[in-house]
Amino acid sequence: AAEQFDTGALAGKTVFITAGPTREALDPVRYISNHSSGKMGYALAQAAVDAGARVRLISGPVNLAAPPRMDVVAVQSADDMLAASMKGIESCDIFIAAAAVADYRPVAVSEHKIKKGAEEVMELRLVKNPDIVASVAALPNKPFTVGFAAETQDLQTYARSKLERKNLDLIVANDVSQPGIGFNSDDNAVTLISRDSVLPLPQTSKRQLASQLIRQIADLYNRAQ
Ligand code: CTP
Ligand code: CA
Repeated sequence: AAEQFDTGALAGKTVFITAGPTREALDPVRYISNHSSGKMGYALAQAAVDAGARVRLISGPVNLAAPPRMDVVAVQSADDMLAASMKGIESCDIFIAAAAVADYRPVAVSEHKIKKGAEEVMELRLVKNPDIVASVAALPNKPFTVGFAAETQDLQTYARSKLERKNLDLIVANDVSQPGIGFNSDDNAVTLISRDSVLPLPQTSKRQLASQLIRQIADLYNRAQ
């Protein structure tokens, strides 16, 4: 490990990675979330460690074992994930946002379990969550910032607009309408989009794809220095 730390493509670099879903509490027993497995983020964290980086994996609730040789911070909500991402961000060289953050959370968390009422239709009021990757990319001394875009249509157009809107250095565009890739599956296929390049990475295991992604990220990061 010490050898890798000295010689890998990310030797001596600090990488923060968000992964998994977030959970937004409604009351003590209920929450809003999504089907993200965390597999892509965990595979990226492993690949970054293998490339010699110091890694902090900021993870929402997933069914994956905490990988060795990295700092794993377990979080629940988007607010928690933002706080864990900002803590020590000055030391972060590369920030990779692989988490599927809930876009909205309930306006209020009920202190007690919500009781079923007489009405047939119940309305929930939601408020927008902070955008974690955009908050990181808005910092004056921002790290090299990488986002994901999970889309079911117009992949490149939506991905590129996220790259620009969030001030990212790179976006990993993921077509989640195709069966067998993306959310919850073992394989993935993505297109890497930066301001001046487009690189398709064809379908393979998330593990293989993670090392290809880390290699590309390290390349772009080193060229930007
Ligand atoms: N992201 C984030 N914080 C949020 C929402 C998204 O950090 N509150 C990050 C994700 O981790 C991902 C990127 O932003 O790297 C894009 O997420 P995505 O859900 O595709 O985009 P949104 O901006 O939320 O837009 P929409 O869901 O409407 O497509
Ligand atoms: Ca979203």
